[in-house]
This record gives sequence, C-alpha cells and structure tokens, in this order.
Amino acid sequence: MPTVLTESVTKPVSNSVVAARPWVVPILQCRECGKGLKLAQAASPKQPDHTQDLQCTACAYSVPVVRGIPRFVRTDDYVSSFSFEWTRFSTTQLDSARGWTQSEERFQESFDFPLSELKDKWILDVGCGMGRFAEIAAKHGAHVVGIDLSYAVEVASTNLARWPNAQVIQGDARRLPFFPESFDIIYSLGVLHHTPDPRGAFEGLLPFLKPGGKISITLYSKYNRVYVASTNAWRRLTTRLPNKAVYGLSHLSIPLYHLYRIPVLGFLGKAFWPICMHPDPEWRLLDTFDCYSPKYQNFYDHPEVYRWFREAGLQDIAVLEPAISYIGRKA
Ligand SMILES: C[S@@+](CC[C@H](N)C(=O)[O-])C[C@H]1O[C@@H](n2cnc3c(N)ncnc32)[C@H](O)[C@@H]1O
Ligand SMILES: [Zn+2]
Repeated sequence: MPTVLTESVTKPVSNSVVAARPWVVPILQCRECGKGLKLAQAASPKQPDHTQDLQCTACAYSVPVVRGIPRFVRTDDYVSSFSFEWTRFSTTQLDSARGWTQSEERFQESFDFPLSELKDKWILDVGCGMGRFAEIAAKHGAHVVGIDLSYAVEVASTNLARWPNAQVIQGDARRLPFFPESFDIIYSLGVLHHTPDPRGAFEGLLPFLKPGGKISITLYSKYNRVYVASTNAWRRLTTRLPNKAVYGLSHLSIPLYHLYRIPVLGFLGKAFWPICMHPDPEWRLLDTFDCYSPKYQNFYDHPEVYRWFREAGLQDIAVLEPAISYIGRKA
C-alpha cells in the first residue's frame, strides 16, 4: 500500500536539513512546461516542516520542499517495503556510522576510474536508499543528487546533512525532474531490477547524462539458478505479507547463518530458504528482508545487460566485478 507524505512513517529522524540546496535549482525542470524552477517560501504550508516550494518560472507548477527535500511524488507508490526498510536500517550500511569502509569499497567497484576523479563532477544517484553511496561521492567532492521514490529520502537527507554538496530528492527514476544533460555521472546500484520495467527505466536515464558522461548500474544476477528459483518461490508468499511479518521472519537469518556455515547442511539450507550470509547480523537481517519484501525483483545475465548498453549507443562498455555490473560512456 502506498503511503502519503502526511503519515507518521515520514517523521524525520532529525531536523538537521531544513532547506533545499540552492545549487541544485538550476538543473531542475518543470515537468509541465519544460521551463526552470525557482525556490520560494511555501505559499500554503501543509505541515510544519513544509517551508519552501519549488515553483515554475513560467507556469503554475509547484512542488513542496519538506524538510529540505523536494517532493516530486505524493506517495511511495510500489516501494513501501523500502520506506520500511531504510527507516529501520538507517545507518546499517553507512560507512561513517559504522566506522568501516565496506560501502566505499563496493562503490569503487562500480567505476572503471578512481573515486578521486569524482571531484567537482555532477552526479545522480538513482535509487539512493539511505544514502550510503551518495555519502562517498560527497566525500570525494562531487555535487551529488540522490533521488529515491521511497521515504528512505528522510534518512538519506539526515545521513547526508553534513555535506553541503549533497541534495536528496523524492522522485521517480522513470520521470526525472532535471534538464537533459545535467550529469557527468549517473549510477544506479541495486535499483533498476526493483522497477516494473528495468530496461525502460535504464533507457530513461540516458537523456540526463552529458555527452561523454558515464553511467554505471548493478543488477541482480540470474546465474545462481537455485537461489533465483528458491527466492522467487518464497516471494510469491512473502510479497503478499505485511512488511512487519517479513521483517519478523527475516530475523531467522541471524541464527541460521551459523547453521548454514556447516557443510552439506548449509548447502541444503541455502537452497531451501536463502538468507543473506553477511557476517554482521544487522546487515544480514537487512539484506534478507531486502530479498523477500520488494514488490518487483528481476534477475539478469551478461548478454542481456550488455545488449542494453550496446543498443543504447553507449561506448567504452566495461563489465565490472559485482554481478551484474556495467559501465558505459555516452557518445
Ligand atoms: C535495494 S535499494 C538500493 C539502495 C541503494 N542504491 C543502495 O545500494 O544502498 C533500492 C532502492 O531503489 C528505490 N527505487 C525503486 N524504484 C524506484 C524508482 N522508480 N525511482 C526511484 N527510486 C526507486 C527504492 O525505493 C530503494 O530505496
Ligand atoms: Zn512550468
């Protein structure tokens, strides 16, 4: 069930961000008439944290900015499981909170150049979740815009509050509110396979890339056929359950991990009911919930994703380590 902004799930983790970053405004485009937007004081505030509006400079189009986050959608549509997930696991994978570099190492694997080259680039993080990768891009000096359809934006904005070069937007990757050719780099890690039309969503990102800019994506791999068959079978049930029930069931991953490390028993257990096997129990719980709760979940192989890139006219296409990951350059 989609949730609207006024409900309690949207309560901020903290109020540390109160206004949109002015530097993001020049790349925002009115989706009614195609002209630019401007920031203004909220004309008719609907709640205490609604302090600004983004108004079209030419027509009556306007979107609220609530807690510093422009809201280009009115609900979280089909991603309510992610609103639930990132509200509960707001810092589980956040390097700065955990005092480790796991997300930074994973982020580096999504590029065929060092992260230091992100400095001063305009970057779009599509499906930013709670902002773990945007944090790394910001740390490396990029202007990074994180967009997500879910109320993960509440925690992402808080997680990124200390970075004046980061801006979070609540919006739909399939209807981006930017002028064409706004970004040097677009990345979308673990997101497009959760949309109803992943290839269409991928192709829809390309107009927003500058000529010569790079796009990097990661999708779920279909090569572990037992895992795919088993999770798909379970998901026929779990995607019909309330998020709280799937969350409860996912707690089994905490003790099962130890059982699944026993040879033979583990092999059979993982085939019957796959769980995330991360050594950190909180991460394990998060990723097990992440596997069984999203409404849409698709799996891919290399020839198919390579074809997306080739047929979109991308150049310098490279396959990267995390399956299935590709990067390409716009001609
Ligand atoms: C598995 S999470 C990945 C989050 C982040 N990229 C990471 O790896 O930590 C997938 C995210 O994609 C977002 N998402 C799914 N469909 C979307 C859409 N159409 N537009 C924007 N975000 C979307 C979900 O809300 C969710 O936060
Ligand atoms: Zn307009």
